[in-house]
Amino acid sequence: MKTMQAPEIDVPLQVFETVAAARDFVQTRRFGTVSSPDSKPHRVGVVLTMGALHEGHESLIRQSAKECGSTVVSIFLNPTQFAAGEDLSKYPRTLDADLKRCAVSGADAVFVPTPEVIYPAGFSTQVIPPEIAKTLEGQARPEHFGGVCLVVSKLMNILPGDRAYFGKKDYQQWRVIQAMTRDLNLDVDVVACPIIRDPDGLALSSRNVYLSAKDRGRALSIHRALRTAAAEHAGGQRDVGVLETILREELKPVDEIQYAVVRDAETLAEVQTVQRAAVMLIAARVGNTRLIDNQELNEPD
Ligand code: PAJ
Repeated sequence: MKTMQAPEIDVPLQVFETVAAARDFVQTRRFGTVSSPDSKPHRVGVVLTMGALHEGHESLIRQSAKECGSTVVSIFLNPTQFAAGEDLSKYPRTLDADLKRCAVSGADAVFVPTPEVIYPAGFSTQVIPPEIAKTLEGQARPEHFGGVCLVVSKLMNILPGDRAYFGKKDYQQWRVIQAMTRDLNLDVDVVACPIIRDPDGLALSSRNVYLSAKDRGRALSIHRALRTAAAEHAGGQRDVGVLETILREELKPVDEIQYAVVRDAETLAEVQTVQRAAVMLIAARVGNTRLIDNQELNEPD
């Protein structure tokens, strides 16, 4: 175990590289110890990340720190959720800055495993994702959710916290993880947190650093599309065909629309009219960068 002192604040952040040390930290905080009966058990929150942290990740850590006595963050750039030719090799790696962000936003410990710790020689088990993983991202990136479900189930076993915090930025990922934890009876409450955006509306993403200034301008059409269609919905429009046409119209500046759809918020099933809570989901390519974003459409009960 290492302890680093975050320069900005006077709080030690414990950094673990082994499964045993990380699990022991969570279990001791959650259930207390025999050797130290005074240590008061408390709720533990877990935030799973791939690093290159920004204010979106920080918001998850802050929410956990607010709701839980201890917060553990994992930083692991998971190779199994990237297909060959995707951006694994150029994904930003900023560990020192990441640890500082963890400390200032209220994390108590960080688990930073190497790929060999998560996938040792001889590793072969797979996790087949739930049905809800088949559509949208599952179609665009067929191997993606298999890798996500595998690593998330492993990390939830290594860090068996009371609550695990996920961002709605990756809306389908949240729904997939929710279904997986339910189906596998994982003993954790999955908490969804709101999307954090830059002041211009662009949803924060570790991949935004790939965007040139010009591409960034074009990428803003994604949020504009969501806002325009949401305003139509607020004005009474319930026809999904009409809402999707608005999305595609506003998305003209992007290079490729992979999907721009309105789906049932819970099941992600196709719908013709918005009758209950729905979500608008977009995946688009701007230059060489693939961006995703979404916005929920709420309906009165
Ligand atoms: P990563 O992309 O690093 O995201 C980690 C968490 O931060 C996810 O729950 C994601 O939804 C959330 N997040 C990212 N950008 C956000 C934003 N702008 N606002 C709110 N939350 C945001 O998602 C992954 O990593 C991986 O797939 C992981 C679950 C860690 C498995 O490897």
